[in-house]
Amino acid sequence: MPKTTQPPGRTRVGVIGGGQLALMMAEAATTLPLDLFLLAANPSDPAVRLFHDVTVGNALVPEDVAAFISRVDAVTVDHELVALDALRSDAVVVAPSAEALTFAQDKAHQRREFSRAGLPVPAFIVLDAYDEAVISDFVDGRATTVVKAAKGGYDGRGVRVVHGDPRNDIREVLTSSAVVLEEFLELRSELAVSVVTGHDGVRVVYPPVDTEQRDGMCVSVTVPSQLPTSLQTAATELALRVADCVRAVGVLAIELFVTETGLVVNEVATRPHNSGHWSIEGAVTSQFENHLRAVAGLSLGSTALAAPLSLMVNIVGGSHEPPWNDLAELRGVYVHHYGKSFRPGRKLGHVTVTGLSPSETAETEAAIRSLLAH
Ligand SMILES: Nc1ncnc2c1ncn2[C@@H]1O[C@H](COP(=O)(O)OP(=O)(O)O)[C@@H](O)[C@H]1O
Ligand SMILES: [Mg+2]
Repeated sequence: MPKTTQPPGRTRVGVIGGGQLALMMAEAATTLPLDLFLLAANPSDPAVRLFHDVTVGNALVPEDVAAFISRVDAVTVDHELVALDALRSDAVVVAPSAEALTFAQDKAHQRREFSRAGLPVPAFIVLDAYDEAVISDFVDGRATTVVKAAKGGYDGRGVRVVHGDPRNDIREVLTSSAVVLEEFLELRSELAVSVVTGHDGVRVVYPPVDTEQRDGMCVSVTVPSQLPTSLQTAATELALRVADCVRAVGVLAIELFVTETGLVVNEVATRPHNSGHWSIEGAVTSQFENHLRAVAGLSLGSTALAAPLSLMVNIVGGSHEPPWNDLAELRGVYVHHYGKSFRPGRKLGHVTVTGLSPSETAETEAAIRSLLAH
């Protein structure tokens, strides 16, 4: 396919996947010297309406990915379910690289590599097949364990906290994926840190954020974290060690557990992440702009707070369509509607409120939560 004619100086950036992350990348790109191209699975995907150039194709089919990236200067992803071999190309800048994406695609690879690098992770074993001896050795003396699908899970799908014998769950998950079996940790709270790395190795880091999780899914994010400063400093230091291990260009979001004995690495995403959506209104440069800047080789923007406090709440499909208009009526609330069709349990959007302090935003937060509870 011929290369698209291009004004000088404008980088052609391809985004693989047409979900809400691609949508918010496109919003951020409006002020950058970039032209965005999209590979979307379906014409109805959320990001399609914001891209001028859309290819419909399957990100897991190497030919679709190869044809798409032959038209751009640099390529990035909205999700990690991509045919990695097609990304091992010298003809185009790939950010994150196939090697970095492997961390996000495969929880087993991630646990092994982080453990090898001496990073704190939960005690774990990887099962490619059912192995009674190895399982009983690990399960012995543990009342609760966590059975995770190594591949294909998100938003808690693929994660099972098992009280009692996990063997049946292991067998079930093994029918579709390798299993990571790990210790269940008593969590005091959960944190996330986003690190952005340019091709030149220059890094910027967003402040640690508190994430509230329910049933494996993020409910809300508070920035700055309300944890002690010493713990936040330790979280940032740990995130940078994780970034050294993954070596991803662009945004690397690192989810951390706070336990009684200290910080533990949960998992990473090698792309903009739900825990960074607050940055659209709450930071000088959003995670989406910084991600695109990194991918395109532009200098990175400031990650400083633009408001003393930001709170982001996810809008997830319940029993009916969320009250979008009522949310939009709330003063000081920024509404992000992803344009997805309604389905129970599906992330349909998010709202962000910024303010001076938790007490200042408390009333608005209560109004948001009350609207979402109905
Ligand atoms: N070992 C563990 N101990 C306790 N809770 C866990 C453990 N692993 C995961 N969880 C809980 O499940 C959530 C989802 O797990 P995670 O591995 O991040 O899966 P996903 O890829 O679906 O986000 C975590 O945010 C945490 O609340
Ligand atoms: Mg997670």
